[in-house]
Amino acid sequence: MVSQTRSSSSDKPSGTGNVLPCLPDPIVCAPEPDCRQPYAVDPLRSLIPMGGACDSIGRVRAIAGSDQLSVVTLPDPDPGPTEVVIDVVAAGVNRADLLQRRGLYPPPPGAVDTLGLEVSGRISALGAHVAGWSIGDEVCALLAGGGYAEKVAVPAVQVLPKPADVDLVSAAALPEVACTVASNVYDTAHLESHELLLVHGGSSGIGTHAIQVAHALGSRVAVTARTPAKLARCRELGADVLINYSKDDFVEVIRESGGAAVILDIMGAAYLERNIKALRTGGRLVVIGMQGGVKAELNIGALMAKRASVSGTTLRSRPVEGAGSKAEVVATTRRITWPLLDAGKVRPIVDSTFPLADADAAHARLDSGDAIGKVLLTLD
Ligand SMILES: NC(=O)c1ccc[n+]([C@@H]2O[C@H](COP(=O)([O-])OP(=O)(O)OC[C@H]3O[C@@H](n4cnc5c(N)ncnc54)[C@H](OP(=O)(O)O)[C@@H]3O)[C@@H](O)[C@H]2O)c1
Repeated sequence: MVSQTRSSSSDKPSGTGNVLPCLPDPIVCAPEPDCRQPYAVDPLRSLIPMGGACDSIGRVRAIAGSDQLSVVTLPDPDPGPTEVVIDVVAAGVNRADLLQRRGLYPPPPGAVDTLGLEVSGRISALGAHVAGWSIGDEVCALLAGGGYAEKVAVPAVQVLPKPADVDLVSAAALPEVACTVASNVYDTAHLESHELLLVHGGSSGIGTHAIQVAHALGSRVAVTARTPAKLARCRELGADVLINYSKDDFVEVIRESGGAAVILDIMGAAYLERNIKALRTGGRLVVIGMQGGVKAELNIGALMAKRASVSGTTLRSRPVEGAGSKAEVVATTRRITWPLLDAGKVRPIVDSTFPLADADAAHARLDSGDAIGKVLLTLD
């Protein structure tokens, strides 16, 4: 369902800074059956969600971080010198979007203040210093925000080509999961082909991708999930060890399998102690989510005895370029994962697609915990 709507006489955003001004009172147009498409771009050149239609471009806008999702209209994006503009075909929905909407995950400084961390589409404009991309190229891209939009401007270094046998809509399911898995499982934790990877939340967007990549590169993969149906899907994707965490102790099962060399964890505090127990000697725990809280006690003795390590990373807050940047992550992902996608050994796993105007329903689907793989928004 579309967000609540209210009529307003307010006009275009006046802000010219990096962040869309946060207005106290969300401004929305009343849905009208025959009005124009309700898309627009914010002051930082990303285009915005969503909701009902509106009758006049430039007279409505959405408030990022508000619980209400609403359409906004803003100026078309111009690419900065090192940016491209993408005409969006689909946008990925991420758990971070749900948090941002509730005001719990503000965008990093300088990032656009609207939802959407990844898109697929066609390049429609090039900045003066952009090389290697052309108008019309079919691509997907990692964003710091603003992907729920008709158009978005993005640094060219965050753009990836659409893999050969992947349709353009499904390509929107790739940037976040591929960059997260490549940067954490490979660049940070250095999973090797003879090793066991434990993926918590095997049926998640991240999990369904991690299983495929690790399996394709020769590793054994163990997963946790809540239901037999989810575990069965993980098995189809290449998982070797299936753990129903609602009835089995993953520590016991993993220990019986020799211990995990690498654990890709989304639970944070709730699983910290058990994750350390499940690591084998020399194991690497990489924490990428905090679904089970942020604070826990770490038994340093247990860590030292195993010569183990714990890392934590985020994608969104990385700088665009330089050490540890999104540019580096995207380059790593292109090197590690894109050949697997081009060869058909890894596929985007799409749970469901929703029109942009149904972003509320897309969020509800992800929030339900029933999705297997990615939820997408489409623009057509
Ligand atoms: N740090 C980063 O750079 C980064 C980047 C992207 C995503 N993330 C994080 O990675 C996580 C997954 O992202 P996503 O987009 O793939 O989310 P998602 O598709 O919404 O998946 C969330 C998963 O959590 C699982 N889960 C819930 N409780 C669990 C438990 N006790 N044990 C094991 N699994 C449990 C759910 O599976 P069940 O139904 O089986 O419980 C579900 O599959 C999120 O926390 C997200 O914020 C981090």
